[in-house]
Amino acid sequence: MALTELAGRRVLLGVTGGIAAYKAAELVRRLAEAGAQVRVAMTENAARFVTPLTFQALSGHPVRLSLWDESAEAAMGHIELARWAEDILIAPASADFLARLAHGLADDLLTTLCLASAAPVYVAPAMNQQMWANAATQANLALLRSRGIGVFGPAAGSQACGEVGAGRLLEADELVQALASTRRPRSLSGRQVLVSAGPTYEDIDPVRFLGNRSSGRMGFAIAAAAAEAGAAVTLVAGPVHLATPAGVHRIDVRSARQMHAAVMAAAAVADVFVAAAAVGDFRPQEVARHKIKKRDDGGMTLELTQNPDILAEVAALPRRPLLVGFAAETEHLETHARAKLERKRLDLIAANLVGGGLGFEVDDNSLTLIAADGTIHLPTAPKRELAHQLVDIIAQRLERREATAGVASA
Ligand code: C5P
Repeated sequence: MALTELAGRRVLLGVTGGIAAYKAAELVRRLAEAGAQVRVAMTENAARFVTPLTFQALSGHPVRLSLWDESAEAAMGHIELARWAEDILIAPASADFLARLAHGLADDLLTTLCLASAAPVYVAPAMNQQMWANAATQANLALLRSRGIGVFGPAAGSQACGEVGAGRLLEADELVQALASTRRPRSLSGRQVLVSAGPTYEDIDPVRFLGNRSSGRMGFAIAAAAAEAGAAVTLVAGPVHLATPAGVHRIDVRSARQMHAAVMAAAAVADVFVAAAAVGDFRPQEVARHKIKKRDDGGMTLELTQNPDILAEVAALPRRPLLVGFAAETEHLETHARAKLERKRLDLIAANLVGGGLGFEVDDNSLTLIAADGTIHLPTAPKRELAHQLVDIIAQRLERREATAGVASA
């Protein structure tokens, strides 16, 4: 994983007793892949689910279980371990552990480490959905949050106990991303960012539509990255099957005209508009009220009419936001993208090749960023990682634009 935020970082991973403890084994690997140094401390109950040996093998270091282990204390005492940690991540964090942490107990190694360390503490809760919803758990969590403890997740879905609801531990790579994002600069703090994402569907009749293969993943990743960078984010989403990123205001639309209306309503106050949606250029002239029947002569002609160009209209606003367009091309990437940059009067265009397993419906992507003053290639990486790089570049351009405007008006 091309994450740099965790390189060399000393992470103490605390594992508490719950069935999700098995996922913490994968987490150790992912943290190590991201360059972190990982030490593991477990509660006695966690060791009933996964053996300390598993974590020892994966982290390459002995695992601490108890305050009262003389040989372990002789090697690295618990106070030393508390000082060593730059981040403490408890994953999974059980309801019991959250309760003990919230009330400042220090009756085992892990709670003692949390109290004795100056490092920021993050908890990734995992429990039965009823336990999660319980007022006691929620009150404990509110207390922890008010003291600056970070909470990652939980996710909702089917649970090991057979129930469905909130309380699932986030996946290992989501936890690594969450931890990495705590180290990122809040470069878009106080900014309003508008993102369009996904395809549009243009109805032909009540059961058919014209659509495209955009999954929305790139746009959702940009919305998430902008929110993590401190921006207030509005995400106008076409029909996609993706969860709303944390802290993002989402508006769901279906057709290009609906997307146009939602974007124009939000664009006037936006500092940045990232148009990552694959907007259908045409829609059927008329939507049939009833399902169109097969015909005997074998043919059928669909009259199409052009949709509004959302990006071009935002570009024409008197107070226009910084404009970032996307160009999905199947050939002559840079030539087509540069022409689009100029035609649509964009500040930046992110071009990528699509087709042949690239671009749409996949997790990885590569982007060529083209501006009037140069080109930057972002090599193949997960869309989430690319999104962070793009957000950094947007933040820099925004600052530069304001500095220039300041000079011009001085
Ligand atoms: O010209 P083309 O459709 O390839 O331009 C792509 C860029 O323009 C994307 O950023 C896309 O979101 C935006 N676009 C738009 N409204 C349209 C068509 C494209 O905002 N009707």
